Amino acid sequence: MSALNKIARTLVSNRRGILAADESIGTMSSRLEKVGVEPTEENRRVYRELIVTTPQLAESVSGVILADETFHQKLANGRTFPEYLDELGILAGIKVDTGAKPLAGAPDEKVTEGLDGLRERVAAYVRGGATFAKWRAVITIGDNRPSARAVRANVHALARYAGLCQEGGLVPIVEPEVLMDGSHSLARCQEVTTSVLESLFEELDLMQVQLDGIVLKPNMVVPGSDSGERPTVTDVARATVDALHATVPPSVPGIAFLSGGQSPELATQHLAAMQKLDPLPWELTYSFGRALVGPALETWRGDEGNWAAAQQALSERAVANAAAR
Ligand code: 13P
Repeated sequence: MSALNKIARTLVSNRRGILAADESIGTMSSRLEKVGVEPTEENRRVYRELIVTTPQLAESVSGVILADETFHQKLANGRTFPEYLDELGILAGIKVDTGAKPLAGAPDEKVTEGLDGLRERVAAYVRGGATFAKWRAVITIGDNRPSARAVRANVHALARYAGLCQEGGLVPIVEPEVLMDGSHSLARCQEVTTSVLESLFEELDLMQVQLDGIVLKPNMVVPGSDSGERPTVTDVARATVDALHATVPPSVPGIAFLSGGQSPELATQHLAAMQKLDPLPWELTYSFGRALVGPALETWRGDEGNWAAAQQALSERAVANAAAR
């Protein structure tokens, strides 16, 4: 087993999943402001400390994705976040993309940036204790969207990122997110998700990315948030697994879903339903952000007195998702 394959397997096995705590400074700041917390560097640090010091986190969380700012901060006990996670038996990951920017010639579509200097940044993160990385591409559905050029530009960047990570010793989490925004149907989401994943695996093959040393992080197949469609949990599970069966080679060790704005409970139900469908060649797990930490943030609201209750709220989501596996 290669070192990359071993890390990828650790991330997705033993009924554990990944916790995404890598919101950019801008996104994290607006989430803090929404719950009445001043968006300072120190408050972002304290909030991430609340997350990683949640009791028994390692029982359901295999890896935590950190943002660059957090990667270089320390906990109150003086450890860096990667050092502390390592002591818990949790792998430290790092978001290495620099965000989705408007794509030239394609209004309303974006391409994720961050390839320049990535080889050197990967080396520095490995020295700092990272074992895996994340890069998120966003694909939108709408009139004439996604365009072929937006899909091509994004899967090309994902594949070059994945190659650079593997060369430097990091397992790449490859995240092509088809967004829920819009009024499209579940069927349309399935069609676009299938086509994006198909293009992605062609490009990963072209760039000679070792498929047994990646984790795929896709969206679940759900209707647009303004569609009015209300599919059953089984419908979503079926459409998602069908899209994956059609496109993801069995050499990929694991698929870890993003939650993408679904309610925490529904995301968990969908994950549980998928495990019950067919024999699956890959591990299916979670790499949730909002669906894991949302309730904790709402409970904490920056008040020291709510610390334990907030950790309890995170713990409940983590345990429910591990059970869904
Ligand atoms: P959500 O689960 O909130 O969609 O976040 C996952 C993630 O890492 C997005 O890049």
